[in-house]
Amino acid sequence: MTATLEVSGLSKTYGSGEQAVHAVRDVSFATEPGEFVAIVGPSGSGKTTLLAMIGGLLTPTHGSIRVRGRDIAHLRGRQQAEYRRRSVGYVFQANNLLPFLTARENLMVVNAIGRGSRRAASARARQLLEELGLASRAGALATQLSGGEKQRVAIGRALMNNPELVLVDEPTASLDSQRGRQVVESLISEVKGRDKLGIMVTHDMEMALLADRILEMHDGELHQRARGA
Ligand SMILES: Nc1ncnc2c1ncn2[C@@H]1O[C@H](COP(=O)(O)OP(=O)(O)O)[C@@H](O)[C@H]1O
Ligand SMILES: [Mg+2]
Repeated sequence: MTATLEVSGLSKTYGSGEQAVHAVRDVSFATEPGEFVAIVGPSGSGKTTLLAMIGGLLTPTHGSIRVRGRDIAHLRGRQQAEYRRRSVGYVFQANNLLPFLTARENLMVVNAIGRGSRRAASARARQLLEELGLASRAGALATQLSGGEKQRVAIGRALMNNPELVLVDEPTASLDSQRGRQVVESLISEVKGRDKLGIMVTHDMEMALLADRILEMHDGELHQRARGA
């Protein structure tokens, strides 16, 4: 079976000379379709940098990132934007909603940028808001939402265009643990149900244990974490 994602010898160095920070060092791993992977590790260990490279937001210093066999590591400009728009759903640590739009409109914005029928997008937005427990908040402005609600809207937005890769950076930061668990479970069922790949950075071990596999970052290096460790 072709792995959805194959990362090989991936490194990122910020700056140069004495100021150089080796944020990600020679990271390699591969995943299978339908896999949901958690990445844990201390602050500053390179988790966000790794995710941003996989998501086409940051160009690696070295290495390759193959998505269905295609190396996306060194795409530039329009091709990189196209990869992000078509293949990647990204939930940032700061959830970046448009404050002057409602929850529902924040999802619909993805459709305005992409192509596809408005009716299909509207149905998809309704379904996602429902799944994420936001049906009753669909018409609330982003500024009126709680931290946890904003984060759920951001997750819904990331799933709108049905991306192959769902990348989530510390989603549960402002969710209480029961709600956080539900949200992660709906993310996992989305990934499994459609043979996508999910990668979630989290500091919450309870959430990480919901994943198929836990990878651990330390000083830019990635290690497989043994179950029960
Ligand atoms: N734009 C940047 N310029 C310079 N150093 C950076 C930049 N972004 C992150 N770093 C450094 O890279 C390392 C990894 O950061 P990051 O990927 O954000 O880690 P994590 O998400 O695990 O907290 C840290 O030492 C951080 O200070
Ligand atoms: Mg981070």
